[in-house]
Amino acid sequence: MIGRLNHVAIAVSDLDAATRIYRDTLGARVSAPLSLPEHGVITVFVELPNTKIELLAPLGEDSPIAKFLARNPDGGIHHLSYEVDDIIAARDRLKAEGARVLGNGEPKIGAHGKPVLFLHPKDFCGTLVELEEA
Ligand code: CO
Repeated sequence: MIGRLNHVAIAVSDLDAATRIYRDTLGARVSAPLSLPEHGVITVFVELPNTKIELLAPLGEDSPIAKFLARNPDGGIHHLSYEVDDIIAARDRLKAEGARVLGNGEPKIGAHGKPVLFLHPKDFCGTLVELEEA
């Protein structure tokens, strides 16, 4: 059911510093920052030939990544994003398998303008999984 790895997300407390590391130290192509108030984050995408890295920094008071950064002050891998052809069909199949979909179970529009859902890390090898409709 899952297809390509769309991106690996890394949560950071200092987005400018993280952007410099990827752009200047590692020599990657990076996007301009994009605020996603509905998700409580600001993102910068690092474009690699085979996938992307999503740098995530908190936006607003109750950002969903605030707790993660409190536990991981240096930042860390936050989630993996896999592409699916049909996000509603994927969600219904996963729910039937007993997997927990986070939030109200309805897809939100993600950083690429595509519907996304998040799956409970306890059901997926301790890793937060994002599904993005390709
Ligand atoms: Co993501």
